[in-house]
Amino acid sequence: MIIMAKNMETGVELIDEQHRELIGRINNVTKMGTKSASEEETERTIDLLGEYIIKHFTDEETLQQLCHYPKYKWHKGLHHYYIKEFQKLKNEFDANGPSVRFTLDLHNSIINWIVRHIKSVDAEFGEYYRKQIAESSKQVSRHQALNEERKVALTAVT
Ligand SMILES: [Fe+2]
Repeated sequence: MIIMAKNMETGVELIDEQHRELIGRINNVTKMGTKSASEEETERTIDLLGEYIIKHFTDEETLQQLCHYPKYKWHKGLHHYYIKEFQKLKNEFDANGPSVRFTLDLHNSIINWIVRHIKSVDAEFGEYYRKQIAESSKQVSRHQALNEERKVALTAVT
């Protein structure tokens, strides 16, 4: 079971919220093994995780494009790789059902990468995003100050 630790927060509200949901769905899959759920129930839980992985990656990539993140293509490439890894895992489940191999692969590929990815590359994007936001609000304040100065100057003239 994974817990969203403080050092896994990126400081970007939307992303952190989605990471929480993602981790919740991963935990749901791992719980299936311990409560010996039916194969159908496990399959549905894996599908729910797969759907959310796609949704989250798409949202994160859109946010990166919106703020012209310089590492967007590279980050998207990593997401693409993870989707393929997840698909492999899903295929394994479809072929063999719940198995020790499946549980091991789930831990090694999905759980390990998600934690590493969040702590490293997503954290890096979070830092960039927060800087961009801070810079934009500085620009807005500068713009507002300039407008105020102009108003004062115009009042002095008239
Ligand atoms: Fe990411």
